[in-house]
Amino acid sequence: MKTTFSTLLNSIQEQILNNEIDLKGICMILNKEVPHYNWVGFYFMNDKKRILEIGPYIGAKTDHTEIAFGKGICGQVAVSGKTFVVDDVYAQDNYLACSIQTKAEIVVPLFSNDILIGQLDIDSHEKDPYSEEDVNFLESLCNLIAHKPELYTKYLPE
Ligand code: SME
Repeated sequence: MKTTFSTLLNSIQEQILNNEIDLKGICMILNKEVPHYNWVGFYFMNDKKRILEIGPYIGAKTDHTEIAFGKGICGQVAVSGKTFVVDDVYAQDNYLACSIQTKAEIVVPLFSNDILIGQLDIDSHEKDPYSEEDVNFLESLCNLIAHKPELYTKYLPE
């Protein structure tokens, strides 16, 4: 790894506070700095339609621009509101394949004032790459993002 999670979190926090970064920029940094983060993107809740809608992302183009609540790893997190770590995507029945290179996935919920508004989805080309440190780092990052509505309000449904 080129940098530690705490250095990375501090750097992103500073850029968020100084309005120097948007969600696509956050995806880019994560993808560049963490070798096992190969597809990085955001999905946002549309409660009326009961689907997730894709937001900014970095990585291979995906067919999954809309995901019904309950479908796939992302759709399950839309229902549970809990971080979901999948060490081996092929061992999952309820999984939506994005790329054949993907072996593992982590999905972290994004809450704003206790309301589930979206999620950060990260795919890895490595099997079983995510540790407790990844979970803590990504949950802290989502918490930082949640406190800066300018970053995401434009992606929320009317
Ligand atoms: N694998 C996800 C779908 C989204 S893509 O990975 C970008 C899922 O099962 O929900």
